[in-house]
Amino acid sequence: MKKVIVTGGAGFIGSALIRHLVGNRLAEVVNLDKLTYAGNLESLQSVEKSPLYHFEQADICDPVAVKRLFDEFQPDTIMHLAAESHVDRSIDDPLCFVKTNVLGTANLLQCALEYWRPLPDERKAAFRFQHISTDEVYGSLGAAGFFKETTPYDPKSPYSASKASSDHLVRAWGHTFNLPVLLSNCSNNYGPFHFPEKLIPLVILNALDGKQLPIYGKGENVRDWLYVEDHAKALWLINEKGVPGETYNIGGHNERTNLEVVKTICAILDDLRPKAQGNYADQIVFVTDRPGHDLRYAIDSDKLQKELGWKPEENFDTGICKTVQWYLDNAWWWKPIREKKYAGQRLGGKA
Ligand SMILES: NC(=O)c1ccc[n+]([C@@H]2O[C@H](COP(=O)([O-])OP(=O)(O)OC[C@H]3O[C@@H](n4cnc5c(N)ncnc54)[C@H](O)[C@@H]3O)[C@@H](O)[C@H]2O)c1
Repeated sequence: MKKVIVTGGAGFIGSALIRHLVGNRLAEVVNLDKLTYAGNLESLQSVEKSPLYHFEQADICDPVAVKRLFDEFQPDTIMHLAAESHVDRSIDDPLCFVKTNVLGTANLLQCALEYWRPLPDERKAAFRFQHISTDEVYGSLGAAGFFKETTPYDPKSPYSASKASSDHLVRAWGHTFNLPVLLSNCSNNYGPFHFPEKLIPLVILNALDGKQLPIYGKGENVRDWLYVEDHAKALWLINEKGVPGETYNIGGHNERTNLEVVKTICAILDDLRPKAQGNYADQIVFVTDRPGHDLRYAIDSDKLQKELGWKPEENFDTGICKTVQWYLDNAWWWKPIREKKYAGQRLGGKA
């Protein structure tokens, strides 16, 4: 069984990946996570007692802690998800994004390289440094077209620029030192255990609280939504079958405007938890747009589908119903976050 370091495993996608790997007994995992505001070990309750799961609280920027973990755990692969991930927060505090996403990734690469170099040939050939990135590195699309693996980088926000930088570093360590690297760039994820600063959980929880449902600008920005468990499965497939040095785009061909997303959530809630009076859509308000808001993202994931045989199991209509139902059933998870960590206030409003 493979031994895997997952960085950022207490976050939204990292926890879905660990639940997939440990829950299905696919790998033994160490979760390396600093536990920032976005990290939450409660998301791993279902697997935390498994002998296949271990937790190490550490900062990916800390060379001593990371090196020690490599030496002690002797991983076959590292799947790197730890990052500052919220575009709005990158407008308020861009340097924090540069530190974790750029310098943290450089530190991990260097620690991985030093660990990998003296490995016996067979283990060396099998080792993978897998970097998890975003489609936002490609910039913004007009009304037509899709991002392909060959689309030139054109990041526009401090978040996407920091992720683009980390992608370049990973390729450089692959090219210069022959470290076997894998990259993937994925579209917007949604699903259970999503921190309620992001659009979908924010709207569900504000709706249930009787609060306003803020829509940036006119709500015309388009995102290509992927259910988080489909992403987790794609990441493991890439780890097992991907060709070192290659990049794979991941997306579900589920484009929706933000306004469509919010109206869909309102309609599902009207059905599942009707209000005493009126509809949830009555709570929609239009607010000042995000500075530099990219208009449209859409992913062409043909390479992943044709070369590795990946296929998403959920489409947006099935995934969003599951997601709304999950938030209705799991107040134990999100209530403490809303009460203690983040109550839904506007972030990143000032340029
Ligand atoms: N959420 C999306 O829609 C999406 C889409 C494509 C790619 N991605 C990428 O996937 C990865 C995971 O995204 P997410 O949405 O799960 O993020 P998240 O914000 O939910 O989780 C990030 C995790 O990283 C940890 N972390 C942050 N800084 C750290 C540090 N210095 N050292 C160790 N741990 C640290 C946090 O504690 C948290 O557990 C990120 O690299 C992100 O760029 C996200």
